[in-house]
Amino acid sequence: MAGTADRLEGWADKWSADIIPFHRADVNPHLMKWCHKLAHDDQPSKFLVPLCGKSVDMMWLYKKGHTVFGIEGVEKAIVQFFTENDLKYTKSPTGAGQLFQTADGRLQLHQADICEMDPALIGPVDAIWDRGSYVAIYCEDRPKYAKFMKGVMSRKCHYLLWAVEYDSSLFSGPPRNLSKDDIEKDCGSFAKIECLTCDEHTVETFPKMANWNLKEMKEVVYMLTLK
Ligand SMILES: C[S@@+](CC[C@H](N)C(=O)[O-])C[C@H]1O[C@@H](n2cnc3c(N)ncnc32)[C@H](O)[C@@H]1O
Repeated sequence: MAGTADRLEGWADKWSADIIPFHRADVNPHLMKWCHKLAHDDQPSKFLVPLCGKSVDMMWLYKKGHTVFGIEGVEKAIVQFFTENDLKYTKSPTGAGQLFQTADGRLQLHQADICEMDPALIGPVDAIWDRGSYVAIYCEDRPKYAKFMKGVMSRKCHYLLWAVEYDSSLFSGPPRNLSKDDIEKDCGSFAKIECLTCDEHTVETFPKMANWNLKEMKEVVYMLTLK
């Protein structure tokens, strides 16, 4: 079984060497498309962005008036997020790690290993935006990850999940192959899993696949709600 050091060491090395190909300069189109549903017709809502890196999606949600909770294991990513967005922050210890937050408390980024975190540190959220997160953690940690998600979802929570499906004998990830059956296995006992979009890609439509040794891949977006 992996421990926190095994889970985070490789990522810390990537951040330290500025090798972060997963980081996007633009707001994710799937989030933009489904945000009204996540935020229940654009009401100010509490969003969780697990394994957030320094995603620009968090700033976009914050500017729309939402409260954003991020979870990220590597401090450099969190500090870069605040610095690059010209935001002042305070830093305080928590049971699981450290909390970096703005004075208004609407941006709260926890530095912690999500697999060791108590969901009560975040509290119930209205929405979850999961891009590059479920697919980033080790497969053996998926049941723990799912348990955490169950622990933070409010009754009305909508959980938008981005996944990729491919032949895992050709590439081991991350992003790791994550099928609907895998999600059912981890989350099926507590969540309804609806497939929103499924795009079949080749290198022409998803150029990063060339680095992953893949010729075919599905990009699938799901919405999870509590049963
Ligand atoms: C593939 S990146 C995705 C980042 C972000 N969601 C985005 O779309 O840009 C995964 C991020 O999760 C962090 N991470 C990996 N394992 C983690 C863990 N167990 N707990 C907390 N953060 C973790 C890494 O440092 C990295 O920044």
